[in-house]
Amino acid sequence: MKEKNKNSETSANPKKQLHKEGEKSLKLKMVKIKHKIAIISGKGGVGKSTVTVNLAMAFATHGYVSSVGILDADITGPCIPKILGIKGQKLQAGPLGIFPATGPLGMKVVSMDFLLSSDEVPVIWRGPLKMRAIQQFLSDITWGELDFLFIDLPPGTGDEPLSVMQLLPDMDGVVIVTIPSEVSQIVVKKAVTFARKLNVPVIGIIENMSGFTCPKCGEHTDIFKAGGGKKIAEDLVIPFLGKIPIDPQICSDSDKGSPFTIEHPDSPASKAFMEIVKKVEEFLKQRRKLETTAILETAGKGVNK
Ligand SMILES: Nc1ncnc2c1ncn2[C@@H]1O[C@H](COP(=O)(O)OP(=O)(O)OP(=O)(O)O)[C@@H](O)[C@H]1O
Ligand SMILES: [Mg+2]
Repeated sequence: MKEKNKNSETSANPKKQLHKEGEKSLKLKMVKIKHKIAIISGKGGVGKSTVTVNLAMAFATHGYVSSVGILDADITGPCIPKILGIKGQKLQAGPLGIFPATGPLGMKVVSMDFLLSSDEVPVIWRGPLKMRAIQQFLSDITWGELDFLFIDLPPGTGDEPLSVMQLLPDMDGVVIVTIPSEVSQIVVKKAVTFARKLNVPVIGIIENMSGFTCPKCGEHTDIFKAGGGKKIAEDLVIPFLGKIPIDPQICSDSDKGSPFTIEHPDSPASKAFMEIVKKVEEFLKQRRKLETTAILETAGKGVNK
């Protein structure tokens, strides 16, 4: 007799687990969101959540006010509400559905943090439960019409990134965050291979914590070395989106809950975020062009038959 796959629980495709109604609800909710972009990294602590919030804010100020959402898909270590200054809010449940919390510039936010009774309460869940939570965040929440949904993920290529990518096969792509050091670059390769295996486009790499200029004497120091992000992007033939310097204000604004790009719009780091917005927009434009060409070619073949 064949032995049952002991790992079947953890390796299950969450899409298969969704019963028909859940799948329908997921489609109905997600079709209203034009672009879905996940933020991933190989290593932890390289600034994914910081990049997610500030990129989302930069998009909001770039003509998308009240049209951007963030899904905090870090189930065990959610920190998007803290960075956005909306800790303590709750998801609003009513007869018309469950609605996201609202952050600065009308940002729609869903996070496990809104469901926990206190900061001391840990989420001690195995993979399938985390997958189920992400499914519900995507399919049961009334996100409404959005131009962008940014998804903040925990480090690595585990349950949460896998769930998000399997549940959103039409995702626009992933943005990979790294710091310049070689230690971080090595794990970036795994993140790129992960995205490629799941057929998710890699929008590009951001080099965060890229150098520090002393505000007092003006001296520049490459604390985590320099150029690692660009080098790995060239090696792996993926776009390099830009460098975000180390700025102590980024950390203190995040701790205060006032997003940096709103507080310090003229800083070099905020300008770098705005440049990244343009590159992401360009990527989306090119992607749309390719899709349209493919559709026209398929239609053309149909006519010629
Ligand atoms: N460019 C930067 N300059 C200064 N501080 C930064 C910068 N980027 C991130 N930080 C700070 O570094 C810390 C880690 O950032 P963050 O939480 O965004 O990393 P993460 O990759 O999301 O971590 P995790 O892997 O645990 O999810 C935070 O305190 C954040 O404020
Ligand atoms: Mg994080």
